[in-house]
Amino acid sequence: MNMTVKDRPKKKQTETKKTPIVNVENVYKVNQLNLWYGEDHALKDINLDIPEKQVTAIIGPSGCGKSTFIKTLNRMVETVPSVKVSGGIQYRNQNIFQPSYKVEELRTQVGMVFQKPNPFPKSIYENVVYGPKIHGIRDKKTLDKIVEKSLRGAAIWEEVKDRLNENAYGLSGGQQQRLCIARCLAIEPDVILMDEPTSALDPISTLKVEELVQELKKDYSIIIVTHNMQQAARISDKTAFFLTGEVVEFSNTNELFSNPADKRTEDYITGRFG
Ligand SMILES: Nc1ncnc2c1ncn2[C@@H]1O[C@H](COP(=O)(O)OP(=O)(O)O)[C@@H](O)[C@H]1O
Ligand SMILES: [Mg+2]
Repeated sequence: MNMTVKDRPKKKQTETKKTPIVNVENVYKVNQLNLWYGEDHALKDINLDIPEKQVTAIIGPSGCGKSTFIKTLNRMVETVPSVKVSGGIQYRNQNIFQPSYKVEELRTQVGMVFQKPNPFPKSIYENVVYGPKIHGIRDKKTLDKIVEKSLRGAAIWEEVKDRLNENAYGLSGGQQQRLCIARCLAIEPDVILMDEPTSALDPISTLKVEELVQELKKDYSIIIVTHNMQQAARISDKTAFFLTGEVVEFSNTNELFSNPADKRTEDYITGRFG
């Protein structure tokens, strides 16, 4: 039976409206995670669910385990020989510690940006195509496309498009950091881990990276370590406050900063220690 537009029964308003997403997917579920460096108990009973396509900030004083925690999420921490881990981390519902889990696959899904920009001593172009080439992409046209897309995604294309073959070391610190973000985007990750990505940058570059993070969360789930509380308040949706290897409080960023549930969080955010 063919119906014209006129004949078709009108949908009720409520039916045409998109249902709001109430159940945010979690990219990571961290369950009773403990980590030791030799005898040093660096992470204690961590339970955190990391939401998809949001910015999750990790804050806390120096030495509280922030870097250790995010390096556990991509299993990079295992490069330290004395490390022991207990508990579980589920990434997209798979336990990343189970023996059959392929860590190489995890690394293609989870990109990382470090405190100090660390481009390779190669051209801007070669920096971006490094990951894709490892994954076997050789076609020049495809690589060119990846380069443009990634550099655009990292908000640095306009600045470097005419000097792609120049060495990355010739860029400013802020540009190098955005290039490192582009290098990360080139592998089309699901999650981006950032460990104090702006702490070596000037205020203007910091602002650019912060704006970029806001832009990137449309497509990626971002976990950012920062010791800058204003930064966490500005750019994150959720915040976890770490203290001596424990999560003291994990909640919506607005809530954590305006109405902390724990006295220790309050002391920290009001600058009483740390
Ligand atoms: N490679 C390592 N070997 C031994 N201990 C480490 C190592 N890395 C970090 N630690 C210890 O783990 C604790 C947490 O460190 P870290 O995760 O770097 O903290 P944060 O990033 O919050 O400053 C500290 O006590 C630190 O000394
Ligand atoms: Mg650190």
